[in-house]
Amino acid sequence: MLSYLHGYHAGNHADLIKHAVWLAVLDRLHQKAKPFTLIDTHAGAGCYPLTGEQAQKTQEYKSGVALLQGWQPVHPVLQRYLQVLKGFSERHQYPGSPLISVSQLRDADHLHLMELHPGEHERLRTAIKQNRGNGHTHVHHRDGFEGAISLCPPKPNRGAILIDPPYEQRKEYDAVITAVKQLLKRWPQAQIVLWYPLLSQRAGDKAGQSEAMCETLAALQHSVLQAELRVDDPANDAGMYGSGVCLINPAWQIDAVIDDMLNELTAQLGAAAQSSVTWLNKTD
Ligand SMILES: C[S@@+](CC[C@H](N)C(=O)[O-])C[C@H]1O[C@@H](n2cnc3c(N)ncnc32)[C@H](O)[C@@H]1O
Repeated sequence: MLSYLHGYHAGNHADLIKHAVWLAVLDRLHQKAKPFTLIDTHAGAGCYPLTGEQAQKTQEYKSGVALLQGWQPVHPVLQRYLQVLKGFSERHQYPGSPLISVSQLRDADHLHLMELHPGEHERLRTAIKQNRGNGHTHVHHRDGFEGAISLCPPKPNRGAILIDPPYEQRKEYDAVITAVKQLLKRWPQAQIVLWYPLLSQRAGDKAGQSEAMCETLAALQHSVLQAELRVDDPANDAGMYGSGVCLINPAWQIDAVIDDMLNELTAQLGAAAQSSVTWLNKTD
């Protein structure tokens, strides 16, 4: 079942934490001249019109990227994020993770994008053609976990994996755990950024699944850093009251970078927004 379309959610608070943390990871990869490989297991359509029917139906971007308009952040990663957003905002678009990654590639870097939905995959191909950057971008029409596992360890074997499934079905949480274990077996030093939703009791049997998934990942023999952004009280909300990312094998001292960055971001999102950064496991 592939019914999820990210166009309904593009530029919402979940995209903000996910894309800002992803840029913080890329920022650290840039600190060495050695090339890197990026793998995006659930790439989506790449670029989303905020004036389009999907975004207008939910208007989720209004409590997300729309609040960043005209903002001049102090944090260097947030400055970079705003710089990436600028060209797209001018066209009333929001760039998905593929175009954010493309914007950061250098000539010898590689980016692999996996998208299974036929329509979204076609839109992704078009978005990549229209927004060519440096480096080598490969678009795959295949299952993101199967594709990523088969590419690992990639060449160059320095880099990061973004895992951003739609979590439409409860079994996707277990699929993430299985895939992460296999990815780490093949590419033990991969930096993995895994996004997950924070769901209230109104989400039924999916409530508590993210927390259980993070706990299982924390028991693996790897460092795991958790960063979360909450925008609502779980008692009030309609389902998703925030979201988070687990960083597996995070770069040295990136916890302080992400903490500072999220503090500045939450201040811009309004009084209800709160962030936290926590070590779930620290192996060194
Ligand atoms: C949350 S969206 C991705 C958003 C994107 N990562 C971003 O940040 O801009 C999830 C995407 O995963 C795709 N998808 C669902 N199951 C998949 C699978 N098994 N393999 C690859 N893509 C899948 C969906 O079609 C959807 O486009």
